Amino acid sequence: MRQLQSTRNTMPRIVAILPAAGFGTRMGADSPKQFRLLSGVPVIVFTLRRLAQCPAIDEFLIATRGDDIESLATRLAEEQFDRPVRVVRGGDTRQESVRNALAEVPANTDLVLVHDAVRPLVTREQAERVISEAEVRGAVILGIPAMDTVKEVKRASLPGDVALITATIPRERVVLAQTPQAFHASLLRAAFAQAAADGMTASDEAGLVERMGRDVYVVLGAERNLKITRPGDLALAEFYLAEERAGR
Ligand code: C5P
Repeated sequence: MRQLQSTRNTMPRIVAILPAAGFGTRMGADSPKQFRLLSGVPVIVFTLRRLAQCPAIDEFLIATRGDDIESLATRLAEEQFDRPVRVVRGGDTRQESVRNALAEVPANTDLVLVHDAVRPLVTREQAERVISEAEVRGAVILGIPAMDTVKEVKRASLPGDVALITATIPRERVVLAQTPQAFHASLLRAAFAQAAADGMTASDEAGLVERMGRDVYVVLGAERNLKITRPGDLALAEFYLAEERAGR
């Protein structure tokens, strides 16, 4: 790890961005999923505690909705993290939230790691793997193999739940993207600038870097690194946690 040569010839400076401005409509709950409780702790706090186990990260930037900035900052201050944690204003899309946070990343930052606030079971090992590979390769994400057969369809959500299949994508050519995703800061900034110029939106940061024609690599993630999205996901996360605590 830490092979990137910083201009200051010291350890690379690494900033983590956590987009946490989602509305959580798919969850069917009142509060957005990043504020639901996992083992009695708001998911965003849980996620941050896990990510903070990675000592290589120098600073954390959390993008959340305007109404939640103050209360989240107050809650996170209680955690007394040993590194700076800043809460900034998110946007209407995940990409906008990350863009807003990226604008706050200090200029001397070498590497930016982006992690969904709603993936609370991320491990220190996963964060470190992505960081060390990204230092060498420039752009690296976590991903897992697809267990189901993947079909391309004309439209993913047709009224009446019927869609027309246009292709079958060989499973061995598919991975499901997770976070963390880590990038040389200059590359990620360039990708966001290009996306803004073209009016492009992608559902993850890697998508923006790929469309610049730059290589993005994937390392093995884990089923347990789930994204709290649907009803039932919190219960599943509690189950995985219990397994983890039991050493399984
Ligand atoms: O919407 P999705 O489930 O893909 O959200 C992934 C992450 O992006 C979540 O942590 C969510 O809070 C965040 N997000 C955001 N701003 C939005 C929408 C989603 O920060 N406008």
